[in-house]
Amino acid sequence: MSKAVAINGSPRMERGTTAMILDPFIQGMMDAGSDVELLYASRLKVKPCACGKMYCWSEMPGECCIKDKMQLLYPKLREAEILILATPVYIPLPGDMQNIINRLCPLLDPVLEFREGRTRARFRKDVRIQQIVLVSAGGWWEKANFGTVVRIIEEFAEDASVKFAGAVLRPHASLMRQEGELTQDGKAVLNAVRRAGHELVKEGVMTEEILEEISRPLISQEDLWRRWSAS
Ligand SMILES: Cc1cc2nc3c(=O)[nH]c(=O)nc-3n(C[C@H](O)[C@H](O)[C@H](O)COP(=O)(O)O)c2cc1C
Repeated sequence: MSKAVAINGSPRMERGTTAMILDPFIQGMMDAGSDVELLYASRLKVKPCACGKMYCWSEMPGECCIKDKMQLLYPKLREAEILILATPVYIPLPGDMQNIINRLCPLLDPVLEFREGRTRARFRKDVRIQQIVLVSAGGWWEKANFGTVVRIIEEFAEDASVKFAGAVLRPHASLMRQEGELTQDGKAVLNAVRRAGHELVKEGVMTEEILEEISRPLISQEDLWRRWSAS
């Protein structure tokens, strides 16, 4: 059975739109036989990387000198084959999520390589992560608005020399609910999200069709503006 760790970076945790998308994604993965552990960045409250001299590469390779809840996360991450980073767009990331991403540094081998004009590293030999997936919710209308967040996660995967398995993106995510209930569109999107999670585990990839279905506009940009200006 493949193992995965999902980190939800939304400060709204279980109540947020990120959770609304992440939960069926995890369900789809579990239906396909993956063992997924879900953690919340705002509950872990890991401190920022503060030593500033790459202690985890130079002094004690593989170890972080900050002794907080990140120490609970490191063994789980070493064991997982898939890492799911889930976050709302927060120009670009919520602080707790950014702290976790920075604190992944001890999982990287301090041996740099120069590839295609870029300086890269690799996960250490005791880290099993093969793929990193992004799941993200945003408030604005357009999908292009996720560009910076996608690039951050893609860049981290490239730095660690593992596959970026794709991005499950939901713009104007709050429109999936009306008065606390899922709309018909919302239900259809979450159904596609669950299929994407299933596909990832079964096929090792998520098809463009499913990712497009998840991100499709639920309203025209003009109508969203009209709603915003009326509220
Ligand atoms: C500080 C802050 C910055 C935000 N910046 C953006 C943004 O740049 N683009 C966007 O689409 N949504 C932005 N949003 C909206 C959230 O991404 C959106 O409401 C999302 O669905 C929240 O997810 P959550 O409910 O899981 O926290 C921002 C929200 C906050 C609080």
